[in-house]
Amino acid sequence: MGLTPDMQAALGRLTLRNPIMVAAGTFGYGVEYRDLVDLSELGAVVTRSLTLTPRMGNPPPRVAETPAGMLNAIGLQNDGVDAFIIETLPRLREAGATVIASVAGETLEEYVQVAAKLSRAEGVAALELNLSCPNQARGGMEFGVQPELTAQVVAAVRQATDLPLIAKLSPNGGEIAPAAQAAVAAGAEAICLINTLLGVAVDAHRRQFRLASKVGGLSGPAVKPIAQYHLWRVRQSLPDTPLIGVGGVSSAEDAIEFILLGAHAVQIGTANYVQPTIALEIVQGLRDYLTTHGFPSVDAIRGLVQ
Ligand SMILES: Cc1cc2nc3c(=O)[nH]c(=O)nc-3n(C[C@H](O)[C@H](O)[C@H](O)COP(=O)(O)O)c2cc1C
Repeated sequence: MGLTPDMQAALGRLTLRNPIMVAAGTFGYGVEYRDLVDLSELGAVVTRSLTLTPRMGNPPPRVAETPAGMLNAIGLQNDGVDAFIIETLPRLREAGATVIASVAGETLEEYVQVAAKLSRAEGVAALELNLSCPNQARGGMEFGVQPELTAQVVAAVRQATDLPLIAKLSPNGGEIAPAAQAAVAAGAEAICLINTLLGVAVDAHRRQFRLASKVGGLSGPAVKPIAQYHLWRVRQSLPDTPLIGVGGVSSAEDAIEFILLGAHAVQIGTANYVQPTIALEIVQGLRDYLTTHGFPSVDAIRGLVQ
């Protein structure tokens, strides 16, 4: 038997107990699952994206199953940042979770205000700027596919907080590297990729779109090769920036693939809906893989596939 491998993941100023997190919007606020999942054993819990005021999200139906994936148009449903800070954050802290708060907005000012409120609260480890939501009429994705806008939002938020900043980017503008470089130049310490891919689904029997808002974001196993492509490409242009890979991870092997391609951490999204304990199983699977193959740490396998 070898030694227990070192599972820590260092993302700039943020050190996580392991590299496995639950992805924004796919695990509620995290507290909903605390009877089922020991949140203190996850690398981090990323909250659903928080806006300045409560949002109802889009009208139903807003989720559709697709081959090897799902299409969603939730539209950033959340209780607003103030309710999160007062009601939810203390419970996440109590459960021992490392909390990464996802920040969203329709305007640059909204991102700044939400970030400022979160950085005054106790118990937020980092902010993840959702610059990539495809389900918003205004803001969201547009900030993450135009490098100048990406830089403006990141720079403005950087002024408003001392917390580590992660920029979450979208694959819907083509190559992600230009926006990732802009985000880092403006003060982002890590890049998270990818958010969902734009798609539609049609019901042939009812002769209608399956989603009330027609367009949604595709996630799940179907998007894994695309997420891995972008991770690998951005790795080449930003070799020193911590990257968080997300898209289609539903097993330890999937997560290991992302790490081999250069990810410092990996998020689990759609797979949480299939099996809410999957992220913890992936932590264990990663530990077993390192032990079986004699690797002393997660760091030892990062980027082995070039
Ligand atoms: C139902 C649903 C809701 C989501 N909500 C958010 C959100 O609020 N903020 C965000 O940044 N990403 C959100 N996402 C995107 C995921 O965090 C993730 O980037 C994407 O689904 C790809 O990962 P996956 O294939 O593992 O699901 C959502 C995804 C789904 C399926």
